[in-house]
Amino acid sequence: MTTILDGKKLAQQIKQEIADEVARMKAAGQRPPHLAAVLVGDDPASQVYVRNKVRSCEQVGFGSTLIRKPASITQEELLATVHQLNDEPEIDGFIVQLPLPDHLDEEAVTLAIDPRKDVDGFHPVNFGRMAQGLPCYLPATPLGIMEMLRRYEIPTEGKQAVVVGRSNIVGTPMALLLSRKGYPGNCTVTLCHSRTRDIAAELRRADIVVAAIGKAEFITGDMVKEGAVVIDVGINRVEDPTAKKGYRLKGDVHFESVAPIASYITPVPGGVGPMTVTSLLLNTLKAARREVYV
Ligand code: GUN
Repeated sequence: MTTILDGKKLAQQIKQEIADEVARMKAAGQRPPHLAAVLVGDDPASQVYVRNKVRSCEQVGFGSTLIRKPASITQEELLATVHQLNDEPEIDGFIVQLPLPDHLDEEAVTLAIDPRKDVDGFHPVNFGRMAQGLPCYLPATPLGIMEMLRRYEIPTEGKQAVVVGRSNIVGTPMALLLSRKGYPGNCTVTLCHSRTRDIAAELRRADIVVAAIGKAEFITGDMVKEGAVVIDVGINRVEDPTAKKGYRLKGDVHFESVAPIASYITPVPGGVGPMTVTSLLLNTLKAARREVYV
């Protein structure tokens, strides 16, 4: 029997819990948490993501501020915006939506964000704290996956976990988090990447698979062990003239062949994706309560 991990439903449930908490805060005379998002230029995908983040804030009763800047903004002007947000006491946390136009330095912008307000968890201070198991903001996708494992009560202790993809915001943090002491965690982790000699062989030993490769339907049924837990982070656009938008979203996992073998599997869409915005809300709530940096 395969259980489909319903990220959409779980995200709804968590949003309701956050909304209840915000209602309690307001009833106690406290200001609701406030998230700001900086959007530079007019990249269509970024606009959709940021709109979704702002709308999610409204749904749970958070305050939100959308700061739009033209693609022609200079590095100095963008850094000035970041510094203003760092200093604004009414803003609990903020994000600068990536990618930025080519003439801007993403690394310098990320470094300029006050780690106490870095609800994306992208600042090296938060990354370092995560690596050492200290209080921190976890990046949205890893936090969403950990929350999903926890809420579905999926056993992780002593399991062989194979993470495919070594990005700073998904693969590498997932490998660290799954290997850490505690629950979810205590896994023995293998981190695979483009230079791994035989990814299929590594995957066949895995009790838990986290796929963050960025290649549509890369992992097929013949690469997965019977009963494995399969977490698919991929969101790949695959051309399909029969689809309304001309494309379909496909994960990094070939769902049709892997699902019958897996014990748990996330669908795409509706799996990890919806959990990521919820993570941003959870981090903003933590920021408002000053839970991470006291
Ligand atoms: N671009 C794609 N995903 C993200 C994210 O989680 N945060 C930011 N700031 N930019 C992104």
